[in-house]
Amino acid sequence: MVLCRQKDKINAQIEAKSTMKGLILSGGTGSRLYPLTYTNAKQLIPVANKPILVRVIESIHDAGIDEIGIVIGVGARADMVRKEIGNGERWGIAITYITQDAPLGLAHAVKVSADFLGDDRFVMFLGDNVIEGGISTLITKFGKSDWNSQIVLTHIENPQQYGVAELGEDGSIRRLVEKPKNPPSDLALVGIYMFDHNILTAADSIVPSARGELEITDAIQWLVDNGYAVHPYVHHGWWIDTGRPNDMLNANDHVLEEIAYYVDGLVDADSNVDTRVRVEEGAEIINSVVRGPAIVGKNSRIVNSYIGPFTSIAHDVLIENSEIEHSVVLENSSIKDIEARIQDSLIGRNVCIHRSPVKPKALKLTLGDNSDLGIL
Ligand code: TTP
Repeated sequence: MVLCRQKDKINAQIEAKSTMKGLILSGGTGSRLYPLTYTNAKQLIPVANKPILVRVIESIHDAGIDEIGIVIGVGARADMVRKEIGNGERWGIAITYITQDAPLGLAHAVKVSADFLGDDRFVMFLGDNVIEGGISTLITKFGKSDWNSQIVLTHIENPQQYGVAELGEDGSIRRLVEKPKNPPSDLALVGIYMFDHNILTAADSIVPSARGELEITDAIQWLVDNGYAVHPYVHHGWWIDTGRPNDMLNANDHVLEEIAYYVDGLVDADSNVDTRVRVEEGAEIINSVVRGPAIVGKNSRIVNSYIGPFTSIAHDVLIENSEIEHSVVLENSSIKDIEARIQDSLIGRNVCIHRSPVKPKALKLTLGDNSDLGIL
């Protein structure tokens, strides 16, 4: 029985391999995450210490796809993506970078990928979306189907901020609208789409929306209006579009509950570390308490401190005489001697938070443009 299931999975992967490509959209500006995204691509921000983009690549690879195109913009953020992700060798896949000169919309990103896509069927992922596992069967099913497109929908509370689908009584798609003031339903389009080559004709046939973007919802609506088979699938697990800082923390919460927990670093006898904690190689927990789910990255040091639930500490971080929970701290940062507990915070790379011995006793801040500092 188990052998049969494995055989089915391998067959599905072989099928997907020969027929499907992956396309990841990793351009955009990430302005809602300034200042973090001045110096970093949004898609490279880690949740549970792994960049979102890496999670997306691994999801596509799990579905047996080994040819992936990544749409990037121009400038430093695009260079960072190329440098951090490379040519795909580490996953045994081929990665092609596709430059989009300006973020003119998701359907525009499809248009600029035409050469890479050719006539192949493909799955398109937004590079900043995090979704509960188990979607590879959905992708392989599309690979084998004769549908022209499959879209993934989920019930949400605030559909006004997303592309929204209205389904007919038979469950088919009646209409799609982007960020509607009066949503026709609570079914939002999740950032995963599957298409055949007809989406290129659709993207060529639409015009920019009022916000000046070529909308993928308009392109899919074009497919529906022109009689192509667009199959809706309603996803019931969690899904997070990490547009704003709170979304990033939310994604981190979900993923921290799913990771493997182990202690590869050192925990001294005076420390108390929960079972749902990962302490990576070279990390040290000295006279501290760590409540899970949490992760402490390689070579980080936690000294006389408290790390509360839903916290991700990246590698080479120092937390000393301080308390932090429900937060993400990126690499090479340090937090020392802070009396107030830090929570609900996103702290970038090479950040230094410390007490200043220099009089007068005052807050001394060096914050980037668009920083957000909450003080009691
Ligand atoms: P968005 O979150 O819609 O846009 P953004 O990343 O520019 O963020 P903000 O609104 O905060 O400025 O983009 C969703 C994903 O699609 C994200 O991974 C970036 C990518 N994208 C492109 O690759 N090309 C585009 O033209 C657009 C609009 C987005």
